[in-house]
Amino acid sequence: MSQIESVLHETRSFPPSEAFRAAARISSAEEYERLYRESLDDPEAFWGRIARELPWIEPFEEVLDWSGAPVARWFTGGKTNASLVCVDRHLDGPRADKTAILWEGEPGDVRTLTYAELGAEVRRFANALKARGVKKGDRVAIYMPMVPELAIAVLACARIGAPHSVIFGGFSAQSIKDRVEDGGCTAVITADGGWRRGKPLPLKATVDEALVHAKDVHTVFCVRRCENDVDWVEGRDVWWHDAVAAADDDCPPEPMDSEDTLFLLYTSGSTGKPKGIQHTTAGYLVGAYLTSRYVFDLRDDDVYWCTADIGWVTGHSYIVYGPLANGATVVMYEGAPNEPHPGRFWELVQKHKVTVLYTAPTAIRAFMKWGDEHPAKFDLSTLRLLGTVGEPINPEAWMWYRRTIGGERCPIVDTWWQTETGAIMITPLPGVTATKPGSATRPFFGVDAAVVDEEGNELGPNEGGLLVLRKPWPSMLRGIWGDPERYRETYWSRFPGLYFAGDGARKDEDGCFWIMGRVDDVLNVSGHRLSTMEVESALVSHEAVVEAAVVARPDELTGEAICAFVTVGAGGEPSDALRDALKEHVAVEIGKLARPAEVRFAEALPKTRSGKIMRRLLRDIAAGRETVQDTTTLEDYSVLARLRGDEE
Ligand code: WTA
Repeated sequence: MSQIESVLHETRSFPPSEAFRAAARISSAEEYERLYRESLDDPEAFWGRIARELPWIEPFEEVLDWSGAPVARWFTGGKTNASLVCVDRHLDGPRADKTAILWEGEPGDVRTLTYAELGAEVRRFANALKARGVKKGDRVAIYMPMVPELAIAVLACARIGAPHSVIFGGFSAQSIKDRVEDGGCTAVITADGGWRRGKPLPLKATVDEALVHAKDVHTVFCVRRCENDVDWVEGRDVWWHDAVAAADDDCPPEPMDSEDTLFLLYTSGSTGKPKGIQHTTAGYLVGAYLTSRYVFDLRDDDVYWCTADIGWVTGHSYIVYGPLANGATVVMYEGAPNEPHPGRFWELVQKHKVTVLYTAPTAIRAFMKWGDEHPAKFDLSTLRLLGTVGEPINPEAWMWYRRTIGGERCPIVDTWWQTETGAIMITPLPGVTATKPGSATRPFFGVDAAVVDEEGNELGPNEGGLLVLRKPWPSMLRGIWGDPERYRETYWSRFPGLYFAGDGARKDEDGCFWIMGRVDDVLNVSGHRLSTMEVESALVSHEAVVEAAVVARPDELTGEAICAFVTVGAGGEPSDALRDALKEHVAVEIGKLARPAEVRFAEALPKTRSGKIMRRLLRDIAAGRETVQDTTTLEDYSVLARLRGDEE
């Protein structure tokens, strides 16, 4: 297998404005270089110093113990607690009365919690957990809507040392059952429902179905949110409001060893069986804290909004742990971005005077499709910094984000990382980095990233290959729950001593990384290996197209031929002429080699619930095969049927 050829030629570059740079936490290239060099050359000094910025119950003895590689131990001998780091440390000063959580429900109801109020709620619910017998080391599953109680539940579990396993509120009963069983959870926290597109999503009913045979679950806490009817299992089920009414708010934090598990978070594996990614206390917190501080340049007067759901790692690290560790004001929104109108996000930005916004390419492409008139109705001038995560962002979507949302004024931080990495790994620093549309740019402090070939040799500038990490980092996963062998096999067996992320990438002449997508998705046409992301970006650069996914299908002549699935934007019309124009457009942009053999128009593309395009399903459709793959993580089943033409 040869390298991945890179065909994307993107030369635009946007240095931060002088005004942004001057006020930024890190504001000169020299400072960045000095810290970056220190973080690689003397990681113990660098990380030790950062870790000491956080509160400890007992100080750590050693920064890193890598003798058990690939399982790292960071800040060994130390004891702390995540709720101490995220809440208690703010309670002695003026931040006690600062808004910690600024929440809006889908129907428009608003609740705010100061750090002092958040602390009291966390301690009360922590006592409620204890009153039901939940103790240090017990695993607790959380299946909730995006309400403040979700953040409170997470922090309360941390306070008593019970690892949480948050399951995204859109998953099915079967997915909950698998995760509760795999994690050996003994308590579950849910809600009667959550508002989604004007209707209550019946969460408690789904939990009930999942737990029919779960004899180890002794308690189900239920938040009353939508007041929809729920079934009740006497002896097992407890209303949240009753439990906290009976609890007092005195609950000292459990001293947790640095390496004690903070949480499990399941991510889909290619074989179907989800992997319980295991994160521990101190290293994870140090990573989430430092990246939030420097990547989002957080300041005390910021109103910071990450639009992810806490059911994903982005919500763990960049709604709860990272921003709260920095004492930020965090916006949390319950509902859909187009309920009751496609400008809802922009209405929220205006209303709450959001200054930092972090969202996903899938959302940005949806906004492009819905049209510029929606953001245009609202005042977005409070925004000073934009971020994106989750997928490679096509340069045209990046430019749209910069222009239409950022008013050409806000730097964009395109942040590459994974559930497994715990925190952002490759990213611009907004006061320093000249950003390039489509590039996540430079490794963060302590991150030794490289692009290698099949043999593990480092490649030269602009040669596409496999992205690896060569040094352990504090927030790295410590394993897959209950399956240490799968941990070694998945991440560490391809190249001994290197963490293999599963993504393709190239590094340009300036040392900027361009992520090319999952290596499993790479196209192989006439012996050329091409990145899906680059061909898709060529399609999206055509004015009629807002979203595209390309896959390879078997072809007698070329081995594989490119089949493109394309969604047209407002005003565009699918037609044979457009189909031909798109093939030609790719041939001009990239070369004849990448010209799609087939273009299919699609109203929507199949995506995971976190918004990633599922190309493996499109490969089956392009080849005319039945899907035998796991589709339980698919967001909308009807999309598949429509693509197959089953629903004419
Ligand atoms: C992809 C989300 C390109 C990548 C935090 C990675 C990205 C996977 C980016 C992890 C980005 C995430 N540019 N690709 N900025 N961010 N990815 O575990 O393929 O949901 O391996 O974590 O998303 O997804 P996960």
